[in-house]
Amino acid sequence: MPSSDERERWNRKYRENPEAWLDPDPFLAQAFSKYVQPLFPRGGSALDLAGGAGRHSIWLAKQGWKVTLMDISETGIELARRNAGPLAPHIHFVVDDLTQFRASQTGFDLVIGFFYLERGMFPEILKAVRPGGLLVYKTYTVEQLKLSSGPKDPSHLLEPKELLRLVEGLQVLHYSETVAEKATAEIVARRKDS
Ligand SMILES: C[S@@+](CC[C@H](N)C(=O)[O-])C[C@H]1O[C@@H](n2cnc3c(N)ncnc32)[C@H](O)[C@@H]1O
Repeated sequence: MPSSDERERWNRKYRENPEAWLDPDPFLAQAFSKYVQPLFPRGGSALDLAGGAGRHSIWLAKQGWKVTLMDISETGIELARRNAGPLAPHIHFVVDDLTQFRASQTGFDLVIGFFYLERGMFPEILKAVRPGGLLVYKTYTVEQLKLSSGPKDPSHLLEPKELLRLVEGLQVLHYSETVAEKATAEIVARRKDS
């Protein structure tokens, strides 16, 4: 789907159901306490890819992190700014098309991605993690096709073990695939110190 259609589709979703994306996925807090916090006890910089209405950026800002939230939907970003309330100054809100994303030289201590998959972006995603930093990623797998709800476009669903291949070169600290209410794969991986 062209990016402009995707933007419209998400703008509409966020307008029609602004309350649907408020609670952070539990995997963020789990990965944070086990892997992120021990490595960065004083906080750091994070990039939230396709962060939508901001539930994960806001959670990280609450933990004292400085976050950049990128998303193609200006309605999602507006909602994120509103949802962040007094934490908004700790979040840099960027409306952008991630298919054009290029990692900056500085990189981030932590890069997160939840429920967004654009395979071609992974080389840039890995570059966006600074040496010694972490990637926390979770999204749907093809097993989702057997469930009654959720996304059905295979181009946005991970094949078995595909996430492991996409992060090749990083040190994998945690990986699992689950079929429950949603079918997902999740990973925590670390970029080696240079
Ligand atoms: C399923 S939502 C997940 C949002 C957020 N990560 C979360 O878990 O709450 C997918 C998000 O991807 C964003 N998105 C889709 N295509 C995009 C693109 N090309 N560039 C940036 N964001 C995009 C949508 O606007 C939407 O906010």
